[in-house]
Amino acid sequence: MQPKQPSRTALGAAAHRAVHQVLERGRIFADPLAVRILGVDAEAAICDAESDPSRRWLRLFIAVRTRFAEDALTAAVARGVRQLVVLGAGLDTYAYRTTFGESLRIFEVDHPATQAWKRQRLTEEAIPVPHTLTFAPVDFERETLAAGLADAGFNPAQQTFFTWLGVVPYLTEPAICSTLGFIANLQGGAHVVFDYSNPPDSDSDQNGFSAIREALAARVAYLGETFISHFETDALHARLTALGFCEVEDLGPVLIRERFFANRGGFLPDRGGHILRAATV
Ligand SMILES: C[S@@+](CC[C@H](N)C(=O)[O-])C[C@H]1O[C@@H](n2cnc3c(N)ncnc32)[C@H](O)[C@@H]1O
Repeated sequence: MQPKQPSRTALGAAAHRAVHQVLERGRIFADPLAVRILGVDAEAAICDAESDPSRRWLRLFIAVRTRFAEDALTAAVARGVRQLVVLGAGLDTYAYRTTFGESLRIFEVDHPATQAWKRQRLTEEAIPVPHTLTFAPVDFERETLAAGLADAGFNPAQQTFFTWLGVVPYLTEPAICSTLGFIANLQGGAHVVFDYSNPPDSDSDQNGFSAIREALAARVAYLGETFISHFETDALHARLTALGFCEVEDLGPVLIRERFFANRGGFLPDRGGHILRAATV
């Protein structure tokens, strides 16, 4: 990220969610606040998306990862989870539209500059902040999640669900492993959903996907948020098991296609973006 600047990729992800509500009518992921939190940029984002069909792949992946995370959270709450931590929240709107009310305590953790900008956007749009939500500003590269959450009043003895969407690729491996290790060791037990991608050099070029991927990497690097970390799927699963996660569900492109697109091929490659859920309980 650029020093003291809010994340530009957080704005980009929010734009994709807003555009998905309009161009695909929120078919995969419906978010009644997505357009509002983006504000005046929504019209421009829709025009950009219509003029550049190559953005569709990332837009649908972002819709899928958010839907997958929220479905898994709903199932976990039904089984007794009462705490949610949204890591690297960006302009995520879950806390402002959840129907769980008092039964779910929520912590939004983000880089201090991004979080300050989000709070300003919430005020500008008059979106109420529920009293069940606590903001915890943390720079994952400089501070520990443990310290940030402790300051915010997080209860480590209570079973907790973590979402960590669109963040892992931008962090160094030590920062990723330190956060996963913290989650794995929570005494109350934990679930985490995050997305990652396989290393680019092991991708085969299906449907011209390599060019799309290179263009995306160049775009985020230009914004000062370079993709740093990629994982081979088997090695990542072994790492998660070693850290103490006992259940891993991993949807790669093939499973995403089967589950969300009725196996329609064409726009997702067979390697690339994954969405993963791991749990210690
Ligand atoms: C692509 S955005 C994703 C935002 C949101 N999760 C979503 O899906 O829209 C990346 C997020 O990671 C956060 N981030 C990046 N580097 C960070 C760091 N070192 N510490 C804390 N947050 C960081 C940014 O502030 C931003 O909110």
